[in-house]
Order: sequence, then C-alpha cells, then structure tokens
Amino acid sequence: SQYETILVEQRGAVTLVTLNRPKALNALNTQILSELLDAMRAFDEDASQGCAVITGSEKAFAAGADIKEMQAQGFADMYGHDFFAGWDAFTRTRKPVIAAVAGYALGGGCELAMMCDFILAADSAKFGQPEIKLAVSPGMGGSQRLTRAVGKAKAMEMCLTGRMMDADEAERAGLVSRILPAAELLNDALKTAATIASMAPLAVKANKEMVDVAYETTLAQGVQFERRLFHALFGTQDQTEGMAAFVEKRSGIWTGK
Ligand code: HXC
Repeated sequence: SQYETILVEQRGAVTLVTLNRPKALNALNTQILSELLDAMRAFDEDASQGCAVITGSEKAFAAGADIKEMQAQGFADMYGHDFFAGWDAFTRTRKPVIAAVAGYALGGGCELAMMCDFILAADSAKFGQPEIKLAVSPGMGGSQRLTRAVGKAKAMEMCLTGRMMDADEAERAGLVSRILPAAELLNDALKTAATIASMAPLAVKANKEMVDVAYETTLAQGVQFERRLFHALFGTQDQTEGMAAFVEKRSGIWTGK
C-alpha cells in the first residue's frame, strides 16, 4: 500500500484499516494522522465502500499520542500549530467507522477509539487517559467524549488518576457496545461492518448523523432534526425499494439514490 504506518485493505464493501507501528505500540504521530486522514477520505469518497473498521494489534490498539514526538515541544509549537486539530477531520467521516480494540487504548488511542462511531472490545482491552502522569491532559477530545460516554464520576477519576478500565468495566459503563473473545474480535467487527455496509447508503449516513446530533443539541431540536431527516429519506428511491421489498417478502436492492 502507499502507507507506512497503516495497512488498508478492502474486504468487499468494508475497508479495514490496521494501525501498524508495532515497535511503538501504535503510538499516534503526525505521519499516522496524515495517513489515516488520507485513507478515511478515500474510504468516504469510494462508492463501493460502506463501513470501515479501525483496529490495532493484539497488544495495543494504540498506546497514545507519540510521547517521543511531543517531548521537545513547547507552548508556542503546540498552540501556534494547533497540535491535534487535524484529528477533527477524522470525525467528519460521513460513513460509519467501527473501532475494534484489543489491548491498550490509552491516551490518544482511547480518544481515537471514541472518535469512531462505536467500539467493539476484545476481552483484553484496556482503556485509559493516563496523560496526567506525564503532567499533561487529554488533547484529542478525551475529557469531553469520555465524560459523555461514561459520565462524570468515572471520567473524572480516570483523568485524575490515569487508571485503566478493563473491558468489563468499559462495557458496564457504556464505553463499548460489546465485548468479544480476543480471537473473535476482528471477524465479528468485519461481520458487523458488512451488515452496516449492506444497508441503504443514504439511510446509513442519516442514521449516523442523527445519533451524532444527540451530543450537540437539546432534546427538542434533536428530535426535530431526526424527524426532518426521516422525512427526507422518503425522497429516496431506496425507501420505495425497501418498503416494497418488505411487503413482497424479499431483500431490497439499493441504488444509493
Ligand atoms: C511513544 C510509546 C508510547 C507512546 C509506548 N511506546 N507508548 N512511544 N509514545 N505513547 C513505546 C515505548 O517507548 C517502547 O519503545 C515500546 O513502545 C513498547 O512499550 P513498553 O513500554 O516497553 O511496553 P510495556 O512495558 O508492555 O508497556 C505498555 C504500556 C506503556 C503500559 C502501554 O508503553 C505505556 O504506559 N505507554 C504510554 C501510555 C501513555 O502515557 N499514553 C498517553 C500518551 S499521551 P522502546 O523504543 O522503548 O522499546 C497522549 C496525549 C494526548 O496520548 C494529549 C497530550 C498532549
């Protein structure tokens, strides 16, 4: 592939992205960010692709932002270049992205997993925001997304102590959608992604967009946003096909229009 820090494969309609800096436990540096953004842009633009899975290794999804890259930086470098702002582009991916997490998802690794649409966790997964131990803090959204995902008590304790959450606790707290035996994680994630990719593409985008709006708005505005988008889906060919297929007891065939 054209990348050095990630592997990208298409499996049918599913794009599998594997973080691949094994010697640094997939620490997220500038290169991995720019390669990942490039791959996600290509995925979003490729009409043959319906869902992406991002995974790491058995040992680490990603052990954080690259500490060695940040070590020598000062305030002027970080603030002046708005370090990490590039990650916002990742969250503008309009098609669904699943994080398949085994092993460590720490700091920026936990934050990247939370930027995905949902997290499937191996029983070996460990989540944490240990930045405080380096005398810094989350910088890719962790203090905000973790708090929204698990509530203030757990998010505050994790950010202040740097302790890790195992997969069971993460599932109980609502950080991950499901836990799988490590050996089944990738297969299950690919299957789940294939299910999503088999749905009508405009409905997939609309469902993702309306769930995301729940984080950004009031209940009344969110419900109205949902209803308007629901109405809009009745302007699609795939809605006509989907409802006809149900009535005729067959599977729908989508045009994406
Ligand atoms: C750079 C990293 C790294 C990281 C691990 N490595 N994490 N390099 N950045 N975040 C490197 C190690 O230096 C080491 O390289 C190799 O990966 C293997 O790691 P070990 O520590 O030897 O492995 P192990 O003993 O199994 O411990 C695993 C670990 C530990 C518990 C995950 O690596 C760890 O605590 N990592 C840092 C976790 C962390 O603090 N993350 C938050 C980063 S800050 P060498 O060359 O020595 O073999 C962050 C900030 C966002 O994400 C915002 C801040 C501004």
